[in-house]
Amino acid sequence: MLHNKKELSLKSYNTFGIDVKAKSLVLLKDPKELSNIENLQDCMFLGGGSNVLFTNDLSKTVIVNQTKGIDTLHQDNDYIELEIASGEEWHSLVLHCVNLGYGGIENMSLIPGSVGAAPMQNIGAYGAEIRNVLTFVKAIHLDTLEEHKFTNEECQFGYRESIFKKEAKGKYFIKSIGLKLSKRNYQVNTSYGDITAILEKKNIEHPSIKDVSDAVIEIRQSKLPDPKELGNAGSFFKNPVILKTHFDTLKAKFPEIKSYPIDDDHVKVPAGWLIESLGWKGKRIGNTGSHKKQALVLVNYGNVQGGEVKKLSEDIKQSVWDTYHIKLETEVNII
Ligand code: EPU
Repeated sequence: MLHNKKELSLKSYNTFGIDVKAKSLVLLKDPKELSNIENLQDCMFLGGGSNVLFTNDLSKTVIVNQTKGIDTLHQDNDYIELEIASGEEWHSLVLHCVNLGYGGIENMSLIPGSVGAAPMQNIGAYGAEIRNVLTFVKAIHLDTLEEHKFTNEECQFGYRESIFKKEAKGKYFIKSIGLKLSKRNYQVNTSYGDITAILEKKNIEHPSIKDVSDAVIEIRQSKLPDPKELGNAGSFFKNPVILKTHFDTLKAKFPEIKSYPIDDDHVKVPAGWLIESLGWKGKRIGNTGSHKKQALVLVNYGNVQGGEVKKLSEDIKQSVWDTYHIKLETEVNII
């Protein structure tokens, strides 16, 4: 049975907590119900609503993905492959796997959002990305309702990128994903500076996946605002990749600027550093602002309009461009 909601506010379905209305709202419990919905191509799908900024009421039907289920496909002594319904909450899945001793996604603890949204932007944190453990994405084509299984390679993963943000954008409903996780001989990834520091502080020499997950949770809770307390959508901007020649010019002028190597010709610059250096960090403008502990995150101090956040993001972009000649791209989808 399709569950059509009469209350059309999307406030509780986006982590920014923006109060806009949908034309109609469907809570999807089973992918089979898609065949009962008219003009699927014109609908908007929402998972955890953790990567959108609504700037207006929508003249569309919004389908909130609430499909659930975690199934074991194969396992041996070393590995287990799971198939997870797209409507599951990502962090609940991480905790489920950490508690059962399945390693591979612990560094991505506490990332807000749904399982189905995770491959779309190839979520990543603290040295791990979903592409490293993902085996497939099952997606339903919105025109034909046929199912297509994308291999990892077919997903065309890049930094916060996949085919679902490019040529497949808007064409599919992601139904489930496959993950291959380790049951023993874990390769825990503690190379990220903050994680190393926490483990050292706790005198943990041989960290378990639970130790790593706990460390990530501690770091994220200390730096990133909890959307339940302060509306936000995580990093609002991507970390820009620029030419090394450009970076060298900037470094001469701004010796403090940071970078991570990408290849011989390119480096990645932390957008948080750029934004902080221009005085935006912790600055409040009306009901929005850049967060005091992580400049990349824009927040809702209460009843903010999406347009105000968008305006702030444009002002930040402009100031980064004026000083550094770097074009910031938004990671959040502005609708
Ligand atoms: N930095 C600043 N000021 C700030 C924030 C960061 O100077 O306000 C500097 C830090 O000192 C550090 C560097 O920027 O040298 C990197 O900072 P951090 O480790 O906090 O990570 P990030 O690059 O700002 C990315 C992801 C986060 C992810 C963290 C940890 C993007 C756009 N963001 O942030 O992802 O949690 O790394 O791996 O890649 C998200 O996508 O929603 C998200 C939160």
